[in-house]
Amino acid sequence: MTFAYISDIAAYEAKEVTLRGWVYHKRSSGKLQFILLRDGTGTIQCVGFKGNFTPEQFDALDKLTQESSIEVTGNVRKDPRAPSGYELDIVSFTVVQLAENYPITPKEHGTAFLMEHRHLWLRSSRQHAIIKIRHEVIKACRDYFDDQGFTLVDTPIFTPNACEGTTTLFETEYFDQKAYLTQSGQLYNEATAAAFGKVYCFGPTFRAEKSKTRRHLMEFWMIEPEVAYATLEDTMALAEGLICFMVERVLARRKAELETLERDTSKLEKIQKPFPRLSYDDAVVRLKQAGSEISWGGDFGGGDETILSDQFDAPVMVHRYPSNIKAFYMQPDPERPEVALCVDVLAPEGYGEIIGGGQRIHDQNLLLSRLREHNLPEEPFKWYLDLRRYGTVPHAGFGMGIERAVAWICKLDHLRETIAFPRMLYRIYP
Ligand code: 4AD
Ligand code: MG
Repeated sequence: MTFAYISDIAAYEAKEVTLRGWVYHKRSSGKLQFILLRDGTGTIQCVGFKGNFTPEQFDALDKLTQESSIEVTGNVRKDPRAPSGYELDIVSFTVVQLAENYPITPKEHGTAFLMEHRHLWLRSSRQHAIIKIRHEVIKACRDYFDDQGFTLVDTPIFTPNACEGTTTLFETEYFDQKAYLTQSGQLYNEATAAAFGKVYCFGPTFRAEKSKTRRHLMEFWMIEPEVAYATLEDTMALAEGLICFMVERVLARRKAELETLERDTSKLEKIQKPFPRLSYDDAVVRLKQAGSEISWGGDFGGGDETILSDQFDAPVMVHRYPSNIKAFYMQPDPERPEVALCVDVLAPEGYGEIIGGGQRIHDQNLLLSRLREHNLPEEPFKWYLDLRRYGTVPHAGFGMGIERAVAWICKLDHLRETIAFPRMLYRIYP
């Protein structure tokens, strides 16, 4: 027996086909049973006419429960009224398993309950749409870099040193040593960029963020390009290009999913180059005007990012933050050493930072003094300093959090729905 997927159903018009899936919804009206079957690739309404079955068979159809697994053979009928354009007239069916009382019913459930049942919640159409869009975002990012001659070089997850500051490190045992789960592949990207010119890494990163916000996960996926001989301007252009490419791709290929999420796509269609560029200095002025408590030298809070990102239709690129509030590796602006050649890209509609990056220090002595100022040990950074001893060049790159990008594109309230199994401050189950 050959089986078909619902996504390919058009090819089987007026033919008999066997589908395998799960009962998403079911209703009956006397002589008819309507089963909405889902198989991961789509959904289709399957119709059982009483006259085509023995009383026992029809009874079994009637007794199917939500999420029961079934194989259904039937005739594919074109129906313009059906959401998928087709219906299936059931000829025969096999119950693979009659599901027990499914906990997630069509009624409203609270978030805590849904998170507790995340392993099942993923089957719902909304979660399905989000994860499909996440997949598209990841594919788009990879294509964007691959098409420009970047090499994917994977970076390690166990690391001996901090990248983004020591306060959010997850520490673990590494035989008789200490190790940390990586916060970013950047430092290793800097080594591979000197070997391959243009590189990116894509993998899980870990931050012990004690703050419980809708923008923070403990484990998130980051795509990070790094380019030898690139400047801050180059990396801003690369980031802008990535965002446009990614949004365009999702609009073109995930229309149905955006519709499921009731996303206002006109907002996404406005995402065009060039994005506004705003210095940190100007951003502070704007924030003060909007009533923020910020003063020059302070870092933006989530509320500040929301204010700024609400002021533009496109992502806004805020550059040249004070060096003091940024990571040790940031290249100072030669014209104003108190600010760093760095950029944060804030997504519109109040979403805030989705990208952070900039130009890295390439001078050995400057890097050494920064390590000391940040009270970082030299020993684990020996290899990183080597990069400044053997053919050092200016270089730049950035990191984009996939979950932040997906939350914005899908217009979600919280990062927890952007990844199949989110790791959060108070939740590591399931
Ligand atoms: O701004 P961040 O900390 O930058 C870096 O890690 C650089 N080393 C990247 C680089 O230049 N290669 O983090 C980059 C992005 C943020 O803009 C955000 O999108 C995401 O990572 N991010 C988080 N996403 C979810 N949960 C968290 N706790 C996150 N922390 C950062
Ligand atoms: Mg950042």
